Amino acid sequence: MSKLFDITGRVALVTGASRGLGLGMARGLAEAGATVVLTGRDAATLEAAADGLRTDGLAADTACFDVTDIEASRSAIAEVAARHGRLDILLANAGIHGARPLPDWQPADWERVMATNLTACFFAAQQAAGIMRAQRHGRIIFTGSLTASRGRPTIHGYAAAKAGLAAITRTLAAELGEHGITVNTIAGGYFETEMSAAMRRDPEVVARITARIPLRRWGTPRDLAGIAVFLAAEAGGYVTGQEIFADGGLGTAL
Ligand SMILES: NC(=O)c1ccc[n+]([C@@H]2O[C@H](COP(=O)([O-])OP(=O)(O)OC[C@H]3O[C@@H](n4cnc5c(N)ncnc54)[C@H](OP(=O)(O)O)[C@@H]3O)[C@@H](O)[C@H]2O)c1
Repeated sequence: MSKLFDITGRVALVTGASRGLGLGMARGLAEAGATVVLTGRDAATLEAAADGLRTDGLAADTACFDVTDIEASRSAIAEVAARHGRLDILLANAGIHGARPLPDWQPADWERVMATNLTACFFAAQQAAGIMRAQRHGRIIFTGSLTASRGRPTIHGYAAAKAGLAAITRTLAAELGEHGITVNTIAGGYFETEMSAAMRRDPEVVARITARIPLRRWGTPRDLAGIAVFLAAEAGGYVTGQEIFADGGLGTAL
């Protein structure tokens, strides 16, 4: 492996890594040498996901908590750092969707999506940054979305939260750079995960979206793994405050 992409000895905590994009990126980080700590709300699913990585000779641990419980999240991040002696990479990826016509949005729907997709990411970054500052090294990565900068009906809270993530990517990068910490967002387009399962049940919707994507396919969790490794490794060491789009070209096409 090129030294530029080698993260052997690094410890990465990935939220929302029981499945989907989080698990795909965690696998990529582990393949590049990191010890990955998978997190989510269901202990059994997490253990099964970690076993899948260990079976392939990768280093995986788990931590079970709800990211919207800020105190639980703070304790879990501190415990992981204590258990492994360090925390080099935080990939705050856990997220929920939420599409409903404008008249149906209730305050509780808005608050749930903001709590999970934005507030939890900010406070996880705050906690991780404290540990990383002491190490003089750290990589914070958020999973954003093309919807932060492109309009699509019904997903008001989701898009607002992802736009907020893009904003705190820049503010955190500006504040943490002097401590050797980079902060970036990987902004996805359409991916084949449980989150998009309902949408993908309609073949017409799938065909219409696929036709608009220049690469003519939806992304898979594997498509984000290399970007996560790049941002976590020496290779991405001078990149901070950025939104990196992984959308098959959708955001740049007419
Ligand atoms: N799929 C797409 O097309 C797409 C596109 C752009 C961006 N994204 C973003 O990518 C990220 C991952 O999405 P995905 O497609 O992989 O979704 P997914 O398959 O539904 O996975 C979501 C993950 O987040 C965890 N999670 C959700 N709420 C949580 C909470 N309150 N506390 C702890 N963990 C929680 C889930 O685990 P448990 O339910 O077991 O807790 C699961 O591991 C999200 O931020 C999403 O917005 C997705």
